[in-house]
Amino acid sequence: MIVFDNVWFSYGNREVLKGVSFSANFDERIAVMGESGEGKTTILKLILGLITPDRGKILIDGKDISSLSEDELIPIRRKFSIVFQEGALFDSLPVKENVAFFMREILKLPNEQIYKKVSELLSRVGVTDAEELMPEELSGGMHRRVAIARALAVGKTKMFLYDEPTAGLDPVNSERIMTLIKDLADKENIGFMIITHVVYVAWQLCNRFIFIKDGKILFDGGKQELILTEISAVKDFIKELFFKVEL
Ligand SMILES: Nc1ncnc2c1ncn2[C@@H]1O[C@H](COP(=O)(O)OP(=O)(O)O)[C@@H](O)[C@H]1O
Ligand SMILES: [Mg+2]
Repeated sequence: MIVFDNVWFSYGNREVLKGVSFSANFDERIAVMGESGEGKTTILKLILGLITPDRGKILIDGKDISSLSEDELIPIRRKFSIVFQEGALFDSLPVKENVAFFMREILKLPNEQIYKKVSELLSRVGVTDAEELMPEELSGGMHRRVAIARALAVGKTKMFLYDEPTAGLDPVNSERIMTLIKDLADKENIGFMIITHVVYVAWQLCNRFIFIKDGKILFDGGKQELILTEISAVKDFIKELFFKVEL
């Protein structure tokens, strides 16, 4: 379980989060929505202990992570499979080494086991015959799939974290990535948190929606509440839904 208890955070004098509280179970399907620059990625970084709050508490499975050392954070981070914004692969490594990275560097598994797992993970995300390709040779959709395969290599995932999973993809590939996100969660029976500024993506995949503006959570609720909301900033944000999906 993830708990944010009155979390405040600033980069220098840029105050980003001003008292954010929510709790989430690992099996939920949550969208964290908001305009660019509202602090969505910052929330992901806080969950992983990459940055620590100025005030307030973050608990992961009951453990306050602010005071943990880098070593103590490893088991916390391993609860999550993380796909960062743009999928960010290592440019100088071929696909198979990108996916192998965690198993080689952290788990220190033998090669034979690594490469078996690499093909297994790549086929799970629907990528075939690409093991030897370099990231620059991949299409946008393939790139994102490989990034998901790399995230899956962590192993003991309790929840997927996706930062803008469809950013930069054309509509067809966006739909494919959305299907993959849903299929993986269904198969593994684990939840996900998706950071997105695209309300359509959130709507298709999630059943809980958290909306951030000016450092605060303006809205936290389900589908019905979302479409019926009277909060004007949220209403504005979800406008495009009314053209895209049948409610
Ligand atoms: N490392 C950093 N140093 C200074 N400011 C940052 C840093 N990272 C993000 N910011 C600023 O903090 C705000 C929130 O960033 P972010 O969480 O990335 O927003 P979002 O993901 O919602 O677009 C933005 O105004 C951004 O410019
Ligand atoms: Mg972001």
